[in-house]
Amino acid sequence: MANIAKIFASRAQGVLQAAARQPQVATRFSSSSTNNWEYIKTEVAGEGKNVAVITLNRPKALNALCNGLMKELSTALQQFGKDKTISAIVLTGSEKAFAAGADIKEMVGNTYSQCIQGNFLNDWTEVARTQKPIIAAVNGYALGGGCELAMMCDIIYAGDKAKFGQPEIALGTIPGAGGTQRLTRVVGKSKAMEMCLTGNMIGAQEAEKLGLASKVVPADQLLGEAVKLGEKIGTHSNLIVQLCKEAVNTAYETTLQEGLKFERRTFHATFSTSDRKEGMTAFAEKRPAKFTNE
Ligand code: CAA
Repeated sequence: MANIAKIFASRAQGVLQAAARQPQVATRFSSSSTNNWEYIKTEVAGEGKNVAVITLNRPKALNALCNGLMKELSTALQQFGKDKTISAIVLTGSEKAFAAGADIKEMVGNTYSQCIQGNFLNDWTEVARTQKPIIAAVNGYALGGGCELAMMCDIIYAGDKAKFGQPEIALGTIPGAGGTQRLTRVVGKSKAMEMCLTGNMIGAQEAEKLGLASKVVPADQLLGEAVKLGEKIGTHSNLIVQLCKEAVNTAYETTLQEGLKFERRTFHATFSTSDRKEGMTAFAEKRPAKFTNE
């Protein structure tokens, strides 16, 4: 057990060191930038221009997640991940569809050996690997890979007409990017079984009730609310936000005892940061904290 504590302590220290090493990316990108996206749009939003918005933009196919789209999404996430001016990322789609799943027409001819040898869907994990907080703003359909993509994000805000589902069973397959795993951890076995075995969709209100979405807002206010959430998170130390995100995610990946140890060591590690000192000093001096992400 002492070893586990040591490993966690060194992981937390590693996060702090990696964050300190991150290069400043000078180039700001927006919809008018040099990035020539085919399947997505990127822009920066919020008063401080510190919230990145990535919009899936394949409306004719209801944002079906083809290889090209997923590659662009990974690239954009990596770029925003390195950009020190960005505090949070919002991932959204159109009013009709966040994403209607993996591209069925693109994968219809895939064989088993191609899936194995090409490690199909392995490159879908960038969202889950992103160190910055990422908010899914879901309007319309979030089905199959679309629901899985939303669940890879840290927080889901749903428009009031959003629909979530894992309809792969009707295609003669099963979810392949976390639908049977993340959904089960969030909504429990009975509901996850029901959704995965029937392919039935649930609406935004039910998703909120089940804890899949943290908030439901009118569809036309969704993006604004998600950006506001990103801005609120961005008022805190980006460095400590990153550590906190890692600690919450650890709850999904380890036992309670290991998770509690990781949390405690990460809490201890915050005492090696300037931002922890500043946050507590500012409280005592009754003034707003000025975080430097150090
Ligand atoms: N892949 C490819 N194309 C898709 C698509 C998908 N997942 N979902 C929708 N489209 C295309 C349709 O083929 C159609 O294209 P055309 O105009 O060229 O015919 C266009 O988007 C509009 O779709 P519909 O006409 O079907 O729109 P609708 O409003 O009648 O129905 C829908 C909407 C209920 C979402 C329906 O499109 C649908 O059921 N889509 C498939 C959902 C699905 O099964 N997703 C799971 C995919 S498998 C997966 O994701 C595996 C994994 O775990 C990674």
